[in-house]
Parts: sequence; structure tokens; C-alpha cells
Amino acid sequence: MALKKCFRQVAARANENSLVMQAIVLVGGEGTRLRPLTYGTPKPMVPIVNVPFLARTMERLYAADIRDVILAAGYMPQAIVDYFGDGSRLGLKVTYAIEETPLGTAGALKNVEEHITGPFFVLNGDILTSLDLPAMRQYHQRKGGIGTLHLIRVDDPSPFGCVVHDESGKVSAFIEKPPKGEEPTNEINAGTYLLEREILNYIPAGRKVSIEHETFPQVIAAGKALYAYTTDDYWLDLGRPEQYLAAHRDVLSGMMPLLVELGISGEGKEVLQGHPGIVPPVHAAGDVVVDASARVGPNVVLGESCSIGADAVIRESVLWDRVSVGSGAVIEHSILASRVTVGPKARVGAGSVIGHDVSVEPGATIEPGSRLGSPP
Ligand code: GTP
Repeated sequence: MALKKCFRQVAARANENSLVMQAIVLVGGEGTRLRPLTYGTPKPMVPIVNVPFLARTMERLYAADIRDVILAAGYMPQAIVDYFGDGSRLGLKVTYAIEETPLGTAGALKNVEEHITGPFFVLNGDILTSLDLPAMRQYHQRKGGIGTLHLIRVDDPSPFGCVVHDESGKVSAFIEKPPKGEEPTNEINAGTYLLEREILNYIPAGRKVSIEHETFPQVIAAGKALYAYTTDDYWLDLGRPEQYLAAHRDVLSGMMPLLVELGISGEGKEVLQGHPGIVPPVHAAGDVVVDASARVGPNVVLGESCSIGADAVIRESVLWDRVSVGSGAVIEHSILASRVTVGPKARVGAGSVIGHDVSVEPGATIEPGSRLGSPP
């Protein structure tokens, strides 16, 4: 009897395990378009409303009942390892595969073949989306192909990878960055895949391989079915500074649901509530100091230990931790990385990106669109 019970328990566990799936998050890119921010912080660790972006992705995976996460890293991996460790703090098992030279979006998967036990999600590490992963998993199970690709519709598909499919969802072609006006569809590859382990047989080992350019076209040519899963979810590729600012606007307005309170929010709420110069939405970490005569907002995020001097004005900008803004300084539509100092009466023009530890001289004018900061 006891033995029977034991078998039942093992069977139940095996059943659970067959539902459990792994996720591989691609976090090995250099994030060149986000420089100088990515000189000091790898792109997956860039904060979104004061929490590293990758931690937000991990939360989504946890919510989708995925507990086994492989991070395919390469550029500045230590910052990632230091933050997530073995994942137990988040209730996850995190394994790292660190590429000495970038293996590309498919090579990174082949590189972790020994850790992959069944169907697995692949997430580009720089996509902010409200995609419902369990719903995609159900769709994949229903369709039964070798892989399912999340697609979204965009107004201008030309900078993206267009994916052509038939009415059943079966993919027939990938057209990367088609010339404007010649796009075959407005549905693009949104950077989340659910793949069967078998797809690894189509990826050569030991060299750089792109999943978009090589593997997917080869899989189709071999007669294997890839299915498109097109949704109307929120979707943003965080690759460029303008998109990074747009992501903050969308989170602060509630358009992208990220469980961030709207209005005046964050641990710094008590400091800011009742402050005459705050124009919501503004999100502030704890221990920010904002002078009573400063004006902050709308769409501003202040990181931990930021201090904002008298008469300073900050609009539509994201300040990471320990940024100090002198009296009378003006910052608009810009991103300031950790420990930036902006001297009194300096002006930071719209579209500027200022890297870690940079000091802007008192009274200086930073031209719109400037990028300040150099590799360490
Ligand atoms: P840019 O240099 O600004 O283009 O950014 P990126 O290096 O992140 O490249 P891209 O945006 O095309 O990459 C999409 C996703 O794939 C990102 O999450 C990258 O971290 C990841 N990625 C790109 N190339 C590699 C690679 O060779 N290995 C791994 N493990 N991940 C990669």
C-alpha cells in the first residue's frame, strides 16, 4: 500500500514535470545602441522604473510557472550573476551559460543543449511585453509544431523581421528588414519563441548562428511546421534610448501593466506627496531629496539617493541611482546613469544620454541628443 502511494506520488510529480518548462533568456548582446548606458551596465540590467529589466522578465517567467531559467550571457555577465545568483531569492533555478565570443541568437541555444530537457521558451532579453506566456504555451500545444513564434503587428514593419504565415498560422517565410513599401506583412517577429528540443538538431555547434537568419528558414525548408502566434499585446524593443524613455512613459501611464502604482509612487512617495512642484506621474525610490522649489514631472523616475536642488526642473527623464542635480539645472527628455552630477544652472537638452559618473559642469549646456560617457 505504502509502495503504491509512493508510485502515485512519483507519477504525479512526473506529470507536473511534463508541464514545467524551461526558459532561455538571451542576454549576451553588447547593447551598442544604448551606449553610453551600457558601458557601465549590461542592457538586461538597465533599470525599468528602478528595477533591473531582467528582474521584471524573471517575474513574468515565475508568474507563468516557469522555474528553470537559463541565462545566455556574454557581455558584462558578472553584473547579472551578482544580482540573480542561483535564483533562489526569486524562487527560480538560474543557470548561466557565458559565451566567450557571442554565439548569436541560435548559437546561444545550441550552447546550452545539455541543460535543455524539453520544450522551452526563448526570450530576447530586451523586449518589454504584456504577452501571456501560458496562453502561448496552450496555443503551441494545440498546434503541435516544432516551434511557435510570437508576432505583433506594427505600423512600420521595415526595421523588423517580417513573418509570413497562412490562415492556420503556419509560417512560410521570414523577411528581415524589407525595404519600406515592400513589406509582405505588418506582422513582425516579437522575440519570444516556444521551441521543441528537436530544433537544436538544426543548429550547428561551435559557431555564431542567427535564429532569425539561419535556423528558422532552414527549419521551414526542411518541412517542419513553425506557427505564428499573433497578439495585440503591449510590445516594445528597448534597444534605443527613445524606446527606453517610451517604455517608462508607458509603464507610468499604465499602458504597459507592470504593477507600478500610477501618480506619485515608489518608496519616495512620502517625500514627494504634497510637494508643490511635482507633476505626476513621478516614481521615486526611497531616500530621494527634492528641494521644495524644484519642479519634477511629468514622466520622471528618480533612482535611489537622487538629490534635486532648488529651482531645478526635470521633465520626461529617467535618473538612475545617486544622481545629483544642482540648483537651477534643467533636464528634459534625457537619461542619466548612476552617479551623474549635473552642476547648478546646467541644461541637459532633450534626447541626451549621460553615462555613469559623468559630471556636467555648472552652467554648461548639453546640446540636445548628446551622448556623454566613455568605456571604463
Ligand atoms: P545592439 O548592440 O544595440 O544591437 O543590442 P544587442 O547587442 O542587445 O543586440 P540585439 O538587440 O539584436 O539582441 C537581441 C537580444 O539577443 C538581446 O537580448 C541580446 O542580449 C541577445 N543577443 C544578441 N546577440 C547575442 C549573442 O550572441 N549571444 C547571446 N547569448 N545573446 C545575444
